[in-house]
Amino acid sequence: MTPRLLKRPGSLWPGRKSALPLALATGMLAGTVYAGAPGQITNIFEPLSTPAESVYQSALLTLAICAVIFLIVGGLLLYTTIRFRRRAGDDSLEPPQIYGSNQIELAWTVIPILIVFVLVLVTARTTADVQNQPALPDSLNVTVVGHQWWWEIRYPELGIVTANELHVPVSNAAKRKLTFLRLESADVAHSFWVPQLAGKTDLIPNRVNVMWIEPKQVGTYLGNCAEYCGTQHARMLVRVIAHEPEDFARWAAAQQETGVEEPRVKDGRQLFFATSCINCHAIRGTVAKGRFGPDLTHLMSRDTLASGAARNTPEKLRGWMRNPQTIKDGALMPDMKLSDEELDHITAYLQTLK
Ligand code: CUA
Repeated sequence: MTPRLLKRPGSLWPGRKSALPLALATGMLAGTVYAGAPGQITNIFEPLSTPAESVYQSALLTLAICAVIFLIVGGLLLYTTIRFRRRAGDDSLEPPQIYGSNQIELAWTVIPILIVFVLVLVTARTTADVQNQPALPDSLNVTVVGHQWWWEIRYPELGIVTANELHVPVSNAAKRKLTFLRLESADVAHSFWVPQLAGKTDLIPNRVNVMWIEPKQVGTYLGNCAEYCGTQHARMLVRVIAHEPEDFARWAAAQQETGVEEPRVKDGRQLFFATSCINCHAIRGTVAKGRFGPDLTHLMSRDTLASGAARNTPEKLRGWMRNPQTIKDGALMPDMKLSDEELDHITAYLQTLK
């Protein structure tokens, strides 16, 4: 079962839809409009996971305070501009200059200090709340490794390795289910950001960062790398697919299986294992053990190719192998210079990796 895509999952929080135009504007300003397939924009104003809700609440307070300051300053500015505008018959002399008012100076020193103090406390409390969340007895542990430009996803307890699409169980009030992510990097700094699930956390070489998510609604959440990491940073997209627990168990069981060798794709399989594809890609149960590129054991179970740069269709897959640069300029996968016939065979073989 393919969970439906969460475009505007506002149903849990009716009345928040009015925030959409603001969210769109903010998203565009922040350069996050690429957070998914064309036309889909993730929304920080519609959190669907505990850490994202905490961030949202403190962001609302900051926005509210700033809005009040803006209205006061803007209002006074507007009032003075109109009230004291130049009029016919003015003597063009300077008005009397007044200096020194302890009350006013105290007011505009103390009030901002208080505001900053409140914001610091709220931010510190939110950060601590999110960071100090202990693992619950049956939390799911996943290791996410950032690569130029894709996400390696490993479930050490389940023996599953996949890429770019993180499957997790959904959490509900009766039985909370948290997913802890151990974040690492294979090369440069990246940042894992799925706006509806949590704030950003960087993936830094030679360091382990930890974050957690708790999706409360079944569906697909879109995210992207949020730290400039090279040419294809913008097409380093990530999807989190939240399932009902039984669907997640089914998905995990399917991923744990090793593929069966289908005789009809023998030529494609032989070709694949004769090329240097296997130096970078792994297929469980075979000699292909490379880790530089995504694990292909269950390639066909994924919706997208090239970290969300293309839909996973046979045509796109073939095009990707023919010349990765046409789909993702700068991609580190080389053009293997395969002939049309070879491409057909290998595409047919890869289609059997379900
Ligand atoms: Cu990875 Cu930006």
